[in-house]
Amino acid sequence: MKPLRIALTKGRLEKDTVALFEKIGFDCTALKNKGRKLILPVGGHQFEVVLAKAADVITYVEHGVCDLGIVGKDTILEMGNSFYEVLDLGFGKCKFALAGPKGTDFFGGYSAKTIASKYPNVARNFFESKGMDVRIIKIEGSVELAPLLGLSDAIVDIVETGSTLKENGLEVIETICDVSARLIVNAASLKLRKAEIEDLAEKMDRAKEGKL
Ligand code: PRP
Repeated sequence: MKPLRIALTKGRLEKDTVALFEKIGFDCTALKNKGRKLILPVGGHQFEVVLAKAADVITYVEHGVCDLGIVGKDTILEMGNSFYEVLDLGFGKCKFALAGPKGTDFFGGYSAKTIASKYPNVARNFFESKGMDVRIIKIEGSVELAPLLGLSDAIVDIVETGSTLKENGLEVIETICDVSARLIVNAASLKLRKAEIEDLAEKMDRAKEGKL
């Protein structure tokens, strides 16, 4: 049987995923000594981990070239979900928030506001739910720069410790929702390899709860 292929978001979620796999008892030696390799065996050859950027994790799972994915809810909310989200992994916790320069009355006044975000769909949905018409500008990173440079009135972004906002004179205006890492599964894989996938998800769930 081919190994189950798991797309894993590079960076912040990597370390917690390795810790969770090791709690289950999966050998992560190759993943921990990966060098520049992008596809690594985990748990002997039971699994194959593919390291990718968050948005690409979703693309690979949606297209079925990876059976499973580990990705933040932020990216899921931004990209939509034509896959199954089977488990909240309980790490990678942060929040989506609307933030702006300290002390500004964002909701006061009638002029249309400009919002910068790496997550234009999340921002659009948030303001639509409020019945507010805003202009949204997509920024690729360090979104906090946009209000500082006068490009936008506020930002919709991820807040983890809050220090990036604080050190740049910004503050949360409103919290939008909680974010954490999720285990996602390709729809066909879930049918074809149901038992293996359910077994893995159950082990991850138990390890996360400290029950292993
Ligand atoms: C994220 C986010 C904020 C920062 C928040 O950026 O966009 O800038 O982390 O974290 P904090 O509340 O702990 O300060 P990231 O580091 O992922 O980089 P990016 O801005 O290049 O996307």
